[in-house]
This record gives sequence, C-alpha cells and structure tokens, in this order.
Amino acid sequence: MKTRLGILISGTGSNLISIAAACEAPDFPAEIALVLSNNPKAKGLNFAKERALPTALIEHHAFDTRQAFEQAVHQELCAAKIELVCLAGFMRILSPFLVAKWPGKIINIHPSLLPAFRGLHPHQQAVEAGVRISGCTVHIVTEGLDDGPILGQVAVPVLANDTIKTLQQRVLEREHQLYPAVISHLCENQQGSLISHDNAKASNHLFSIF
Ligand code: GRF
Repeated sequence: MKTRLGILISGTGSNLISIAAACEAPDFPAEIALVLSNNPKAKGLNFAKERALPTALIEHHAFDTRQAFEQAVHQELCAAKIELVCLAGFMRILSPFLVAKWPGKIINIHPSLLPAFRGLHPHQQAVEAGVRISGCTVHIVTEGLDDGPILGQVAVPVLANDTIKTLQQRVLEREHQLYPAVISHLCENQQGSLISHDNAKASNHLFSIF
C-alpha cells in the first residue's frame, strides 16, 4: 500500500511537481492523495488540476481565527485519508492546534541548512551572513518555527558571485532531489506508522546528499 500524501502549497509548486514526478515510478512508496492550497492563485493548483490530482482550496482569509482555518484544513486532510502531510512552500505558520492533530506526520522543506537561517528570507540571511555553504533541510514540523527533528539535508556551496536569486535557484534544484528522497525513505522505513518525535534522531531516519 502506498502512503497517501497531502501536499500543502501556497505558490509555484515546483516541489509539488518534483514529488509528483517521483510518484510516477511504480515502486515509489507514496502517492499524492490531495493538493491543498490557501491561495487561489497558487500556480501549483493549476499543475495539480492538469494532472487530475485531487485539490482543495481553503482560503485563510475566509476564517475569523487561525484555529478555524486549521480545523478546515484538518477536516480536508482527514476526508482524503492522508497519512503524511508535506508542506511545500505553504506560507502559513501552523499553530500547536494543527501540529498536535498530526504528531510526527507533518514534514516541511526549508531552504537553508537548519538550524541556521530559520524563518523568512533564508537565502538573504545566508548571503548577508557570508556563509560559504548553505543548502536545504526536510524536517518534522513541531510547534517551533523550522525547529523540528531533521530528516534530511543537502549542502549547497555559496559562490563568491552569488546573488540571493542565484543561490535560491541552485538550492531549489537540490530541494527537488531531497524532498522526494526523504519521502521515499520515510515511507519505506515506517511502513504506515510514521516517525515519532522520539525516534526521529535514530540514524536510520537521517538522509543526506553531499
Ligand atoms: C521552497 O524554496 C521551499 O523550500 C520553501 O518555499 C519554496 C517553495 O517553492 N519552503 P515551490 O513553491 O515548491 O516552488
């Protein structure tokens, strides 16, 4: 049985596209069962519709509170029988309410080598800090921002003439390798009972590309 993925997006959806491409392989252990966006203009929604993937649009503006929005997201995920939630450029910070409903079952990709450069504008933070190596990280979502146990990382050199844009592009290319690889690794190793906070640091869950 393939693990049912719910992919949450707000924008371009290039990570969604890379996950969808990986899911086409017959032996990939997961399938996209829902693409959910909070933004009606998210390009990734068009991609999902063209591919006939199930989609849901839940606009956060339509709700009075964050919890009401997250309750609607939760219901949609449950209705689609989602087993692993993958944030892929989802521009809403999840509150403890939703995180508690999916303990260890929400993962995120962040374009820095966490714990460095959490939050917004990580590439700008990296360039301004003058680091020579940046990268991307897939981690379990916990209550803290970009703070959960790390599942996989790729290191990307910062070149002397890099701008924020060129660094972003080079890191994004590696994100497209990392995210499907971590999803595959997780789904194969967990066989339905996905990773818990306690066992996330076990070495067999960690994944890295150099
Ligand atoms: C990626 O850089 C991801 O790491 C970050 O948001 C961006 C989303 O890009 N969380 P895309 O929508 O997948 O193209």
